[in-house]
Amino acid sequence: MASDPSPVPKAAPPARVLSGIQPTGRFHWGNYCGAIRQYIDLQSSGESYYFIADLHALTTVRDPARLRELVHAAAVDLVALGLDPARATLFVQSDVPEVTELTWLLMTVCPMGLLERCHAYKDKKTRGLAADAGLFTYPVLMAADILAYDATVVPVGEDQVQHIEVCRDLAGTFNHLYGEVFTLPRPRLVAGGAKVPGTDGQKMSKSYDNTIEVFEDPAAQKKKIMRITTDSRPMEQPKDPEGDHLYELFSLFAPEAERAAMADLYRRGGFGYGEVKKALVQVAGDFFADARRRRAELEADPARIEAILADGAARARKQAGAVLGRARDACGLSRGATAPGRGA
Ligand code: TYM
Repeated sequence: MASDPSPVPKAAPPARVLSGIQPTGRFHWGNYCGAIRQYIDLQSSGESYYFIADLHALTTVRDPARLRELVHAAAVDLVALGLDPARATLFVQSDVPEVTELTWLLMTVCPMGLLERCHAYKDKKTRGLAADAGLFTYPVLMAADILAYDATVVPVGEDQVQHIEVCRDLAGTFNHLYGEVFTLPRPRLVAGGAKVPGTDGQKMSKSYDNTIEVFEDPAAQKKKIMRITTDSRPMEQPKDPEGDHLYELFSLFAPEAERAAMADLYRRGGFGYGEVKKALVQVAGDFFADARRRRAELEADPARIEAILADGAARARKQAGAVLGRARDACGLSRGATAPGRGA
């Protein structure tokens, strides 16, 4: 009797990468080092989708003209920083309405307690600020963002990991109830960039007013850098570079040799923090010099950016429509040919 042929090992399917970023202000070093840098590194491996999360931003930006401006500027910045629309799909979240419908389907399987534990909502409540239902249900929209594209890998900073766990929970519950509809994603963090400190040493965040923006006016940026808080240990005292937020910021942009030399200087002592700040101004300036030039060119051609976003939205809708069709079918909403994604 012929024995079964030995199974041929299947190659792992290529990763499908997806991430989103809110246009609530100009991008800061935390956004770049935690997320955007990863988007650019990953755009050449497999398929990737990156979007500007304007629906999420509506929970904080209430000025329509400002929101439009911020969305356009976000697209300009991403392309200037190296996101290549020929390799990655770049689009605006609200241009894909399939995602908001999917949000509702997920909402119906989402326990309230899961959202009550989420930090964006919890932090606001702790600070005594009024939270709306948009902020409360924010992680469900984020889950739909991810699941709508069958994403497997989600490059983010550490603060978004909890939301990806919520996404996995919701996908798991939906699949358990209705069959294998959704692909479970996993977060991807970068060592050294997952939690970039701000000028005061806490996590860099617009809510803490401690950010340094990527494309800030150089003179204003220098002022901020020179005001980074440091401790009051005497100059001559040797210091440990590990855990020092000024050194951490310097390390984000300095070439390896300069990083090692700076660490030595810390360990030897006999230097002022002012010197380190000046060195940081220099390395960050050099690091973003090309992107600044590209940004100036792109700013002069707004139609090009809008064309990139329109093309991205068309590609994204096709994908999200197929997944939404699957989800509608699974839970009994679609009746034959009326399902979105069918015959498209
Ligand atoms: P947002 O806009 O707050 O931040 C965008 C990305 O920047 C990362 N980040 C940081 N990384 C390291 N250090 C920091 N100090 C720092 N500050 C911000 C964030 O972790 C994030 O990766 N909910 C998301 C947007 C979103 C999304 C999605 C992300 C909506 N749908 C689907 C992934 C997948 C947010 O508010 O990110």
